[in-house]
Amino acid sequence: MSGIPGYEPGIGLDLEEYFRKTQQEKVFNLLKCMKKYSLETFEHSVAVAELSGQMGQRLGYTEDDIVRLRAAGLLHDIGKLTIPLTLLCKKGELTKKEREQIQTHVLAGYTLLLPCISDVNILLAVRQHHERLDGTGYPDGISKGITDFAKIVMLADVYDGMTRQRTYRSESISEVLAKKIMEKDKAGYEGEYLRIFLKNIV
Ligand SMILES: [Fe+2]
Repeated sequence: MSGIPGYEPGIGLDLEEYFRKTQQEKVFNLLKCMKKYSLETFEHSVAVAELSGQMGQRLGYTEDDIVRLRAAGLLHDIGKLTIPLTLLCKKGELTKKEREQIQTHVLAGYTLLLPCISDVNILLAVRQHHERLDGTGYPDGISKGITDFAKIVMLADVYDGMTRQRTYRSESISEVLAKKIMEKDKAGYEGEYLRIFLKNIV
């Protein structure tokens, strides 16, 4: 199996090994498709994997758990493969209908991975990364039962989503402003994780 060009050093190699060990050729192919389909989504996913892995380290996770956590970060937006590029790359405000269509990427990703991944923590991180602890998220609007992996991936996702330079959609914002916004929305996140993330990771 060849590697995915463009991975940050240290991210690709052990995840390739992880996917090999778990016989996830299909998952690997999905990632290759994503890189071709939307480089921005792919690069965002690599960044989310990296930030999530750093959180895992900070929280004292085992090496094995950190690899799984990074895999979850790498795969969290894989369902965007099902969103038309015209919508994914649309400039400016989205309509309510368009927003709802983009939100389908969560369940789409979960459904895509369900036949090829047995690790429940990875599957649930994909499914729950847009949930919020105050119940304002989607797709299920739950406030309980959100996994630790999902709580970590959501922080990395929000932060990288706000600060990443993009060629479409809204302008990226400064790291300082992103931190302030996350502080303001703290009811949605695990308090201790948010504190560690903002203090030590970014
Ligand atoms: Fe997402």
